[in-house]
Amino acid sequence: MASGRLLATVTCTAPVNIAVIKYWGKRDEELILPINSSLSVTLHQDQLKTTTTAAISKDFTEDRVWLNGQEEDVGQPRLQACLREIRRLARKRRSTVDGDLLPLSLSYKVHVASVNNFPTAAGLASSAAGYACLAYTLARVYGVEDDLSEVARRGSGSACRSLYGGFVEWQMGEQADGKDSVARQVAPELHWPQLRILVLVVSAEKKPTGSTVGMQTSVETSPLLKFRAESVVPARMREMLSCIQARDFQGFAELTMKDSNQFHATCLDTFPPISYLNDISRKIMQLVHHFNAYHRQTKVAYTFDAGPNAVIFTLEDTMAEFVAAVRHSFPPETNGDKFLKGLQVTPVLLSEELKAALATEPTPGGVQYIIATQVGPGPQILDDPHVHLLGPDGLPKPAA
Ligand code: DP6
Repeated sequence: MASGRLLATVTCTAPVNIAVIKYWGKRDEELILPINSSLSVTLHQDQLKTTTTAAISKDFTEDRVWLNGQEEDVGQPRLQACLREIRRLARKRRSTVDGDLLPLSLSYKVHVASVNNFPTAAGLASSAAGYACLAYTLARVYGVEDDLSEVARRGSGSACRSLYGGFVEWQMGEQADGKDSVARQVAPELHWPQLRILVLVVSAEKKPTGSTVGMQTSVETSPLLKFRAESVVPARMREMLSCIQARDFQGFAELTMKDSNQFHATCLDTFPPISYLNDISRKIMQLVHHFNAYHRQTKVAYTFDAGPNAVIFTLEDTMAEFVAAVRHSFPPETNGDKFLKGLQVTPVLLSEELKAALATEPTPGGVQYIIATQVGPGPQILDDPHVHLLGPDGLPKPAA
């Protein structure tokens, strides 16, 4: 096919986010409306991101999607919901704005290719970055300028929080149609420059119960989840917001750990019970608490999603010492030089007192590697055509 037939090709990137007040449970499965609001921190795309190219052409005969080079089933309901939703918004726009170009392109099929710069097998939530990137890229291709919360949310609930950088709230909303269930930034990327994030990759195994099915069973069976959503989260959202606004690390850190623990408690309260944490996850929790006790101050916090990997929050001045503590407790079995990826951390020696305070038998290989990162910006549009993942024929370039 001649390259001139591609009407538009756009490439964008989107970030991963990690919730500090967790989303768990839907009140509407179809529209993906949550039973409580949630709040997250956007991670920097220098370390973790999804890149997506979308192209439309008169010559495409069907919508097609490739993920990390493999063609996916475009019929998946959530993918279909995103495509339907973006075309609906584009159609709405056409009726209000100049519609010369759009009517044509709306009937065109789209090709989408998407890659992650981190291993999907690492068990990191790639669906949030993936669907945020899809929504953002399709919006550029179809000329949609509306709020994209709904488009991203229909792919994966947590994806709407990856549409913004910095600190992001997903308001649960009250309306049955979900129009008020939207994400918004509560503090910008540069609001808290000292904040650092460490992803401790524990296991590359696929998670046993996906979030979608897991939370469905929790909603059906866990009285604790109902209590959490109605009586705990609303106050926690307010408290977390004020800790972030005041850059109060101790308050932020304690609430982050408590909310992660309560989420995992609701998993155990689910029947049959779900457990995402493993022995290494629990050893990491212990390490954090011992580290904080030694310092008589909350200097480090953990949070866990639907898998055993830990995400650690700390401040710049504590990062090197905590990394050394992780290395001490989980000595790398091989490739010790590749144990730490991402931001540079100057190696430090642990004091004998701290080693003694950690009080744990080292578990070699328990943590596979660490990704050091920080708070980052929202989705970006890339201008350089060389970065497109689709070639002029609308098919993935060999490397994509
Ligand atoms: C534990 O957004 O993956 O990571 O909406 O069914 O796609 P679906 O679920 P998903 O759930 C994320 C759950 C969590 C907590 C969070 O990110 O808030």
